[in-house]
Amino acid sequence: MNVAEAISLIETGDFAPVLAAGTGPDGAALREALAERARAVREPIYGNDVFVRGLIEISSYCRNDCRYCGLRASNKAAERYRLSPSDILACADEGYRLGFRTVVLQGGEDAFFTDEVLCGIIRSIKRAHSDTAVTLSLGERGRESFARLREAGADRYLLRHETADESHYAMLHPQSMSFENRMQCLRDLRGLGYQVGCGFMVGSPGQTAATLAKDLAFIASFRPEMCGIGPFVPHHATPYAAEPAGSVALTCLLLSIIRIMHPHVLLPATTALGTLDPNGREKGLLAGANVVMPNLSPVSVRKKYAIYDNKICTGEESAQCRFCLERRVESVGCRLVVDRGDFRG
Ligand code: SAM
Ligand code: SF4
Ligand code: FES
Repeated sequence: MNVAEAISLIETGDFAPVLAAGTGPDGAALREALAERARAVREPIYGNDVFVRGLIEISSYCRNDCRYCGLRASNKAAERYRLSPSDILACADEGYRLGFRTVVLQGGEDAFFTDEVLCGIIRSIKRAHSDTAVTLSLGERGRESFARLREAGADRYLLRHETADESHYAMLHPQSMSFENRMQCLRDLRGLGYQVGCGFMVGSPGQTAATLAKDLAFIASFRPEMCGIGPFVPHHATPYAAEPAGSVALTCLLLSIIRIMHPHVLLPATTALGTLDPNGREKGLLAGANVVMPNLSPVSVRKKYAIYDNKICTGEESAQCRFCLERRVESVGCRLVVDRGDFRG
């Protein structure tokens, strides 16, 4: 398949043949051509700018039991911690000093973080740094809760849909979680005026070309402002300990396809890519990504936020991660910018 054929299939929403060709024997040339096209469609919108988000991992407690995740409630060996509101503010201050104008508060679904506690934290961050965007990635909550957090000043919410195939969703999650509720949360967030991020793992157990095509079709119709795509990485204390990790090449192909079909989307080159390949994030940027998310969590807790094995950046100080990433971004001809990095629609 040549690149023109692939692009016209992507534009008509016929993803399966492109995925087959891109992962087949001559896939490397097609992947490279699609990456080049992805960079070309990114350029007029975002130039060479790469946006930086400071990730603060606020809690490793989680009431959920997603089968793929090391923080699942059934993992009794997981080390649990939660940051206090003042710890979180200190991380946000450090991020501001380092030039970050977005902080992402991410964590397991931890009952400690009630609406009241979170609204207090969001308001304090906004009071201290009015030009900083606050992104939340705290799992499923009710519409009322999302509304209160939005009112307190939250700008964006990341909630990966994980898979757009209902039976695959049921395989990856316990019965207490439902595909319908996940989708309802995404619709609620959109309705409340958040910039919304969906996304999925590449190579999650049970994923097929057909489920991936559904993910792409979902993204094409939902048109999220952000889309988190990273390879699945096994965690030793989960039911998927022996499953193979996802492919870096397929992740990059999917990043290129998503950039081509939805040119304005904010697309991170994820830590999981960097975990599987020392140059994984650089490859992601070359495939069309335009966001990086260095870790801002206190070094003392980083190893405890173990969603998968061998996670990188768990021993480094925030400043080290930030400057390390800046060099990596520059090595692929991009530049890290001090900017909120809002969606340009
Ligand atoms: N608890 C929130 C949630 O689930 O939306 C936010 C934190 S959760 C750790 C963030 C994302 O990590 C999930 O959406 C999932 O896609 C990803 N993740 C979990 N386990 C993973 C694994 N083993 N490999 C790669 N990504 C994983
Ligand atoms: Fe909890 Fe999120 Fe991990 Fe699921 S993916 S177990 S909700 S931290
Ligand atoms: Fe964290 Fe390189 S990005 S140390």
